[in-house]
Amino acid sequence: MRYIDVKNLTFYYDREPVLENISYHVDSGEFVTLTGENGAAKSTLIKTTLGILHPKQGSVLLSDKNTRGEKLRMAYLPQQVASFNAGFPSSVYEFVMSGRYPRRGWFKKMGTHDAEHVQTALEAVGMWSYRSKRIGELSGGQKQRVAIARMFASDPDLFILDEPTTGMDDISSSDFYQLMHHAAHTHGKAVLMVTHDPEEVKDFADRNIHLLKDENGKFACFDLHTEREQQVLQQEEISEEVSNV
Ligand SMILES: Nc1ncnc2c1ncn2[C@@H]1O[C@H](COP(=O)(O)OP(=O)(O)O)[C@@H](O)[C@H]1O
Ligand SMILES: [Mg+2]
Repeated sequence: MRYIDVKNLTFYYDREPVLENISYHVDSGEFVTLTGENGAAKSTLIKTTLGILHPKQGSVLLSDKNTRGEKLRMAYLPQQVASFNAGFPSSVYEFVMSGRYPRRGWFKKMGTHDAEHVQTALEAVGMWSYRSKRIGELSGGQKQRVAIARMFASDPDLFILDEPTTGMDDISSSDFYQLMHHAAHTHGKAVLMVTHDPEEVKDFADRNIHLLKDENGKFACFDLHTEREQQVLQQEEISEEVSNV
């Protein structure tokens, strides 16, 4: 089911065109990466998709329903969450639990179901043993993992992630990609993730969208197949050939 459908989008900061005539889509059940050099306007594309910035031309459609016909829930992880300041007052547990509020309404009491979600989310990012620490005491990579846990606790249908593994070590990063792959393939979630390192995610992602700005300042947007997807396509071709024999 189509969750994001962007067509012919053009965006300007003041008079400077930053995105021109960009189209892309993201469906439920797929893990899509968005790549491009620094300044290629990846973050800008995500913000216009979310409606934080308004396009000059083109259309952005976000599904208002998920695959089960319920209201679509979206989670957005902005670039560099790790800069939460040292005085941030909540404990890790409280902060992740706060991700559950939009689900229950602000005045309802949290129950065991919420507590379970919080624990699972913190365990998924290896931060359960830090639950009583204050956010401000954590390292940059740990803050990032806690922000990810808060996002998991809210159990969204659509994840929009801007360089989520910044500050994380390689093992935590690939665990995270594995988790997003699982979320898409097992639970039918949709994932759109900006990354500067497509090599690192190529075993996990289904599809890559590459933003390119050429030397004339013209923009293009390519839908690239990842090696994974190519393997699947080749296998399908082979089995078709076999079945045609
Ligand atoms: N608030 C802003 N005002 C004006 N220009 C901006 C603003 N934010 C980003 N830009 C410019 O827009 C371009 C795209 O930025 P950005 O979307 O952050 O790229 P990326 O995320 O791919 O590194 C860059 O040239 C950047 O300098
Ligand atoms: Mg960016």
